[in-house]
Amino acid sequence: MKAAFIERPGPPGAIVYGELPDPLPGPRDALIRVRACAVNPIDTYVRSGAVVMPLPRPFVVGCDLAGEVVAVGDEVNRLRPGMRVWGSNQGLLGRQGTFSELAAVDERWLYPTPDGVSDREAAAAALVSITAHLGLVGRAGVRPGETVFVNGGSGGVGSAVVQIAKALGARVIATAGAPEKQALVRRFGADVVIDYRDPEIVARARAVVADGVDVYWETQREPDFDRTVAILAEGGRMILMAGRDARPAFPVGPFYVKGCSLHGFAMFKTSHSEQAAAAADINRWLAAGRLRVPIDRVLPLAQTAEAHALQESATVMRSGGLIGKIVIEP
Ligand SMILES: NC(=O)c1ccc[n+]([C@@H]2O[C@H](COP(=O)([O-])OP(=O)(O)OC[C@H]3O[C@@H](n4cnc5c(N)ncnc54)[C@H](OP(=O)(O)O)[C@@H]3O)[C@@H](O)[C@H]2O)c1
Repeated sequence: MKAAFIERPGPPGAIVYGELPDPLPGPRDALIRVRACAVNPIDTYVRSGAVVMPLPRPFVVGCDLAGEVVAVGDEVNRLRPGMRVWGSNQGLLGRQGTFSELAAVDERWLYPTPDGVSDREAAAAALVSITAHLGLVGRAGVRPGETVFVNGGSGGVGSAVVQIAKALGARVIATAGAPEKQALVRRFGADVVIDYRDPEIVARARAVVADGVDVYWETQREPDFDRTVAILAEGGRMILMAGRDARPAFPVGPFYVKGCSLHGFAMFKTSHSEQAAAAADINRWLAAGRLRVPIDRVLPLAQTAEAHALQESATVMRSGGLIGKIVIEP
């Protein structure tokens, strides 16, 4: 099969597009004919070695996939050949990745793709939507009528957070950069959109909810806790999920006196049962058209190295160069 793989961590140019033996599914695996996969920032960190993981050698890059089951192992009971499925959380913690024509995946990480949802859409939604669900439902416990502030509502995770928070009945304030990004976030249902370069963000958020927001979702790698705590309401919850090397100042007094809480998590460490519960809701929202993950471009598998370079410049260098996910079609 054709695959995009590395022999050892390195720059985007370390990714080889070439032939690998077809994977052999284990007893609990389904063999998937991959029709689409999506690039996430974590793919680039694992590929570069910035995040150290045990890696099979050669290591096929990537976490997300959507496609069709072509064979199943003896112990697989939910899936059968011909079913359309999507999944995430591969290429992590020693598991092989997904950027290949065929992938052998434990059935516990696979979910049926709803009719009417394309493989491109399912792959683009996978990791980012599960992440948004884990944070909003499992960590922040968002309730209908609450206000959620999303800093970076135009990105992969941010656009899913905006839409899932709306689906959960919350009011959403989000920040974004360029005017077209702000328009996108509005189309996804954000009630109020603020330019993230606006120096008056705290005042603008307070003008919407005088008592502050119930949940603040930070997508950035260098959070500004003074600003966040100023925006949070009494008992507010903050979600942190980026910035491994960040060591920002923290306003201890204002934070605890308000009874706020801080919830960090890494999606790839959560259990398959928690992710499957998230996937069930995500499937409902995808099927109903309530969750639409933007796709910036679709590239062939041979251009995976270029896709990694683009993702890095957008997320790490904050180039603003992507409006949505990069989808790869093998
Ligand atoms: N912990 C986990 O489980 C988990 C899961 C997924 C992702 N992550 C991490 O979360 C981060 C975001 O991932 P992603 O896939 O959403 O990345 P992404 O698609 O590149 O989105 C980045 C976002 O940052 C925004 N942004 C840029 N500069 C900003 C600023 N100064 N203030 C506020 N927002 C700004 C961008 O807005 P514009 O495009 O409008 O400029 C965009 O919305 C990455 O670091 C990733 O590694 C963690």
